Amino acid sequence: MKKKKIRNQVISLLKSLNSEQKAKQEEILIKTLIGTSEWKRSKIIALTLAQKLELNTDKIIEKAWSEDKIVVIPRTKKDRKMDFVVYKKDTPIEVSSFGLKEPARHLIATLKSDIDLIIVPGVAFCETGFRIGFGGGYYDRFLANYEGETVSLVLNEQQVGLFEVDSFDIPVNLLITTEKIIRKIK
Ligand SMILES: Nc1ncnc2c1ncn2[C@@H]1O[C@H](COP(=O)(O)OP(=O)(O)OP(=O)(O)O)[C@@H](O)[C@H]1O
Ligand SMILES: [Mg+2]
Repeated sequence: MKKKKIRNQVISLLKSLNSEQKAKQEEILIKTLIGTSEWKRSKIIALTLAQKLELNTDKIIEKAWSEDKIVVIPRTKKDRKMDFVVYKKDTPIEVSSFGLKEPARHLIATLKSDIDLIIVPGVAFCETGFRIGFGGGYYDRFLANYEGETVSLVLNEQQVGLFEVDSFDIPVNLLITTEKIIRKIK
């Protein structure tokens, strides 16, 4: 099946997922994440401030801060590129043209090579680690020359079978579902 069709199907499944069921799954996924060695050994963790439809990252952020980890969040740039900026309680946030909450333009970006772990968001994921995002190619571009760890947390509604991947699609190294952890063999 084509990525676009799967993306639309999963988005409508997520729209009909009730918030209690979503929260229950999120709790399991986050508990699993913080038990992994990838989480434990990471000092600088990249993640997004989630939209309502996406996995809620608030608890991950709180947990990271409580463990003295550094959280960095994305900021979109021109040419569908992005960088990541340190996120603290007092970080000035602006709303981007897409309506996303992003760190202010004047803040200095973190070096890509300093990021230990990226929690890669997405709409749909298959067991091979390949993902379907919102279609901007932002993560595919960023991950193309990133050498650290990548993980995605997958709600049941987001698990899909194999799909046609493109040459520029980059899979994640680690997938966490409510049932299991899937590690890509390196
Ligand atoms: N490394 C790259 N260099 C240039 N263009 C790219 C690269 N990666 C992806 N793209 C472009 O991005 C567009 C969107 O790709 P795709 O549909 O796979 O997005 P996505 O994976 O859903 O988005 P995201 O990565 O933001 O989650 C494609 O049309 C592709 O041309
Ligand atoms: Mg892609």
